Amino acid sequence: MAVLVTGGAGYIGSHAAVALHEAGREVVLIDNFINSSPLAVDAIRALTTPDLVFVEGDVCDRAQLDAVFEMHDIDEVIHFAAHKAVSQSTSAPLEYYRNNLGATIGVAEAMIEHGVRKLVFSSSCTVYGQPDVIPVTEHSPTGAESPYGWTKYMSEQILRDAAEAADLDVVLLRYFNPAGAHEGGTLGEDPNGVPNNLVPVVMQVAVGRLEKIEVFGGDYGTHDGTCIRDYIHVVDLADGHVAALDALDGQLRGTCTAVNLGTGTGSSVLEVIAAAEVAVGEPIAYEIVDRRPGDVEQIYADPARAAALLGWRSQRDLAAMMGDHWNWQSRNPHGFTE
Ligand code: UD1
Repeated sequence: MAVLVTGGAGYIGSHAAVALHEAGREVVLIDNFINSSPLAVDAIRALTTPDLVFVEGDVCDRAQLDAVFEMHDIDEVIHFAAHKAVSQSTSAPLEYYRNNLGATIGVAEAMIEHGVRKLVFSSSCTVYGQPDVIPVTEHSPTGAESPYGWTKYMSEQILRDAAEAADLDVVLLRYFNPAGAHEGGTLGEDPNGVPNNLVPVVMQVAVGRLEKIEVFGGDYGTHDGTCIRDYIHVVDLADGHVAALDALDGQLRGTCTAVNLGTGTGSSVLEVIAAAEVAVGEPIAYEIVDRRPGDVEQIYADPARAAALLGWRSQRDLAAMMGDHWNWQSRNPHGFTE
């Protein structure tokens, strides 16, 4: 039996594929390379097995998805495949709703049709919107600030309803901010075009692809005036998915449960830059500019439920994240290239 990983060539999906293999699971990956590279699949194979099953395809295409379920013995699914650029989602909301909700619905329908029960869904702390109280627990109020965020919020609701009606067992994993890379430096984050997220920007400045970091806002009500986020090592995040699948055979069987995957520690933008400078061994140029519209001042996770229900805790700190991310970026300054 195998686990189907949608979006398996992406940043988190690729690291999850390696973690699943290391945990002894058979893995089938599907990805349409819209925001990822075939070279990521080669890197996964080099870390796992050369005959790992990869299908190039679009999960929004039900015929393609059905063919995967028919050809392989799938008994669990991790659904990552989605568009994820917050700013792009505000200029192309319908595209985001069509793609992200279409994918969630298609995956759930295909699972039900093929008698597959266990699903782990890639959600986001963005469903907490602008939190009034931090750390956020899974009981904190939910909402969203962007069409991207709403696609995660709505996907969660769709899956809750499908779980209720069709006996799907689901873990909704609400990720905080992933960073870092596989420790070998052959697998990591490779955003298309100019990155939107902080850590890839920091690393591209360090490697000379960008001139300086624009720090969005230095006048927030935090200890150094910059925003606070819960950065989590992508390998810890990947391990959280293995733990979630295991839990679906144990105490989470028969449920649809939201679980935060974060460290419980907040770091400011300037603290991230300082940790990156230690990893790189050189100063990294930055300038404080205006706030970015829609940014939350501070958010970090209460990770207690993940510990209680999944037996999972993050293991790696910010220094390790920056060290591993730099190891990947410095060995692959232009990401996955021939
Ligand atoms: C956002 C989304 C999150 C999504 C993630 C990945 C929200 C609230 N969060 O996270 O759901 O999963 O993107 O796409 O929608 N920063 C700079 N300069 C930069 C880039 C970022 O100062 O060039 C700052 C931001 O202002 C923020 C922090 O760095 O304070 C982290 O930003 P980013 O990496 O974009 O992640 P989020 O906005 O937290």
